[in-house]
Amino acid sequence: MKLRRIGILTGGGDCPGLNAVIRSVAKPAMAHFNTTVIGILDGYEGMVEGTHRELTPRDVTGIINMGGTILGTSNKGDPFHFPMGTGSNIRIVDASQQVIEHYRNLKLDALITIGGDGTQIIANKLFDMGLNVVGVPKTIDNDLDATDITFGHDSARAVATEAVDRLQTTASAHHRVIVVEMMGRYAGWIALGAGVAGGADIILIPEIPFHWDKVFEAVLKRSKGAKFSILCVAEGAKPHGGDISVKQMDKKRTDPVQLGGIGELVAKRIEEETGLETRVTVLGHVQRGGSPTAFDRILATRLGTVALEAASRGEFGVMASLQQNNVVTVALKDAIGKQRLVPPDSQLVFAARAVGTCMGD
Ligand code: F6P
Repeated sequence: MKLRRIGILTGGGDCPGLNAVIRSVAKPAMAHFNTTVIGILDGYEGMVEGTHRELTPRDVTGIINMGGTILGTSNKGDPFHFPMGTGSNIRIVDASQQVIEHYRNLKLDALITIGGDGTQIIANKLFDMGLNVVGVPKTIDNDLDATDITFGHDSARAVATEAVDRLQTTASAHHRVIVVEMMGRYAGWIALGAGVAGGADIILIPEIPFHWDKVFEAVLKRSKGAKFSILCVAEGAKPHGGDISVKQMDKKRTDPVQLGGIGELVAKRIEEETGLETRVTVLGHVQRGGSPTAFDRILATRLGTVALEAASRGEFGVMASLQQNNVVTVALKDAIGKQRLVPPDSQLVFAARAVGTCMGD
């Protein structure tokens, strides 16, 4: 298929490696297919509002190591749930026809959508409405079922691991308990990975609801030996029979739930129940910023080139996906809406337990 003009957008929360994908789509598109590459600004918002700019070879040079996204992104731009107005006058409307119009006005032959599950659900709906879309999966959370690992996750886990290393020295010096809250939404991959890599004493993840008594028991035991404890707590972790901690709701987003607060709660309860001096660090967006790791740069580059190849073959409604170390394409309709959570009986959880880590159960 002749790709005269393609659009590319980054949707949802940013993560390290987005620029590497943009580069790996745009460079070969321009060099090998003589394609004009239109960068859509701020995710689907740019498709609704018609904000875009043509990318030049210069724009995509020297960006493989850059975090963020040169196109900007948004998690409030779902065309099927589009917020109009400001403040208390926000109305949610269906702006999908504007996307179709802009796609046609821009004379696009294909649209590459780089994003997590929300972005790919929208991409699939647009495909059903007749647009030529190819998805590229991303998220630090690593919670997409249709790919073995998402780019961005390795970088976030590396940042979180370094934080654990640093917190361990200060916790040890002061004989304190330090609770580190990590991102991941409803999946515990970052907290589990960084916890195992950093040698955390207690790891709490959403997939294994914890018992308060087990947590108190574990820190008290540590206080008699090593005299300090590090807890890696996923933002979606919850006590057995209890609820996840929600910071606030944002109705402009398709998923309005903003998680946060479990780290504070765990630290407070530990101090109250054990009398041990306890501090909390919320890693937050530090995990999403900065340079991608070599692993993420390579994976992002492979995914982007496979997505472009698929478009050049006229294969649409698909998503590039890593399957057993091979990047292939899978149908978007089969890839979306399924979360990949940590299996509680996985080898990684087994390994954590084997080296003495308390999983809170
Ligand atoms: O999905 C990526 C992620 O970083 C989650 O881990 C986190 O819950 C959420 O996005 C934070 O979103 P925001 O940047 O809108 O606060």
